[in-house]
Amino acid sequence: MPEFKAYEHDVLIIGAGGAGLSAAIKASSEGVSVGVVCKSLLGKAHTVMAEGGMAASLGNVDDRDNWRVHFADTMRGGQYLNNPQMAELHAKEAPDRVNELESWGALFDRTPDGKILQRNFGGHKYPRLAHVGDRTGLEMIRTLQDHGIHQGIDFHMEVAIIRLLKDGDRVVGAFGYDREKGRFHVFKAKAIIMATGGIGRAFRVTSNSWEYTGDGHALAYDAGAELKDMEFVQFHPTGMVWPPSVKGILVTEGVRGEGGILTNSEGRRFMFDDIPELYVSSTADNPEEGWRYTQGDRDARRPPELLTRDHVARCIVKQIKEGKGSPHGGVYLDIAWIKEKLPNAEEHIKKKLPSMYHQFIELAGIDITKEVMEVGPTTHYIMGGISVDGDTQISTVPGLFACGECAAGLHGANRLGGNSLSDLLVFGNRAGRFAAHFAEEHGEGTIDEAEMGRIVKEALAPFDRYDDTAGDGAYQIQSALQDTMQDLVGIVRTQKEMEQALEKIQEYWVQAAKVGVPGNREYNPGWHTALDLHMLLTVSEAVARAGIERKESRGAHFREDFPDKDPGHFAGVNSIVSKGPDGEMQIREEAIIPQTADQKQIIEEMQ
Ligand code: FUM
Repeated sequence: MPEFKAYEHDVLIIGAGGAGLSAAIKASSEGVSVGVVCKSLLGKAHTVMAEGGMAASLGNVDDRDNWRVHFADTMRGGQYLNNPQMAELHAKEAPDRVNELESWGALFDRTPDGKILQRNFGGHKYPRLAHVGDRTGLEMIRTLQDHGIHQGIDFHMEVAIIRLLKDGDRVVGAFGYDREKGRFHVFKAKAIIMATGGIGRAFRVTSNSWEYTGDGHALAYDAGAELKDMEFVQFHPTGMVWPPSVKGILVTEGVRGEGGILTNSEGRRFMFDDIPELYVSSTADNPEEGWRYTQGDRDARRPPELLTRDHVARCIVKQIKEGKGSPHGGVYLDIAWIKEKLPNAEEHIKKKLPSMYHQFIELAGIDITKEVMEVGPTTHYIMGGISVDGDTQISTVPGLFACGECAAGLHGANRLGGNSLSDLLVFGNRAGRFAAHFAEEHGEGTIDEAEMGRIVKEALAPFDRYDDTAGDGAYQIQSALQDTMQDLVGIVRTQKEMEQALEKIQEYWVQAAKVGVPGNREYNPGWHTALDLHMLLTVSEAVARAGIERKESRGAHFREDFPDKDPGHFAGVNSIVSKGPDGEMQIREEAIIPQTADQKQIIEEMQ
């Protein structure tokens, strides 16, 4: 038997971002024992990259806002592929979760009369994002962490999970290694919640840091869970493009929420060129009206820079392709222009966008209170993920739950900015509650020791395979995969390109099976990368296959060969990826979850 350390928890949570911590706090409050495993140190999570705010219809800035409007906005943003039950629960419960976060110590920006301040964001009809300058995700993580560490939760940091363990159909544990010494660890649990975030590292340009290799998606898929809507990858319109070392780092949508405008090399505000039909009535057709909107004029229409992310990203790519981009392959984002309108503009920018001010001064030598930024799309988020029940967050595998970015359903074909942080709170809480109930209702399972032996053998195989004449190393394969996904399965896709990507992915699978790593198990990032390849290849294949199947353009999935939205067949289906009997990836369509009569009525009213 291999040597490993063993732990037991009623509920095990994999991932310690906003979703994982929310789930842990809730599960623990239900009286069960809770363990949290995270790949990094506690507090280092992509949650902090949701900078501009969390969406909740508190109605503090515009009292016309309420859950019904938020629900309708979320469905429209997701182009109606969303799970309507999740969109309704999210819109209804987000205000309570935000207030709860405040009661745990989150310090939000305030309105003059002392309420939580809310700002404008793309696709939201009213100012809806509760925020802390441009550090909202950071404040959320800090608060959850401070609150969570007093709840008796066990944290296992810098541990990467490489396999879920099953007893029959049911998930009963997880197996992993610690990054420091390479020791193996087994976690026995009655219920497991995946909260591992996204897959950004499958692409070359991304706002995601090294941890985001699609582990939760891939582990759940390997354990027999279904993945839904994997073709929908969100390219945030504004990431840094220069200098090269920081390419992809997020430039918050909050810049546009505060009045920032996008211009091309001719100095033209190109976002006025093309307003999607769904948004014509609510989008300004002149700059003055757009500015009035960002200043809280209830009757003005929103500026076109605050259209949904899928649309804004495509408009930016169009400018670049037409040769109207900036010198380093982006376009210009200008917040400094507001000094024409606001006497205290410099102070305002530094107060509302302190991180952006600091980021551009430190990393690019640009003073955003005086100069324009160069920005371009960056892979930010995946709407697709583990298919879950909208109410309980249980996956198609007994004992396995999922919440946050690695779960599918809430956002449909495109996520609205700010709906992520509230998603983490609402569905983290729900997953925690229902996983705790599952643990109370089910006994312990049995872990198959022989299987652990096989996992260890497989995990250590790269060391046995290493020799100086070996083929490509893990880094080279990862890098080639990132280029493939960026170039062939990116913002604009075609059948031919995605098929080419799939062929290349098959080659990378073969190379990954032969990859060797030098050295030993003690802090060895080359070995970690070799183990990550399995996750990256699984999710990349799922994205490419689902992308090929959806022969239309909708939300974040834009196909040059099918540039229109299909009002017929594809409007009514989600894609489902699952593992076939021989280990092959299978894809099928599933009818979307129908809206209730009440939900339909809300959407009609809001149009
Ligand atoms: O632009 C942003 O601040 C990102 C927010 C989000 O992804 O929700």
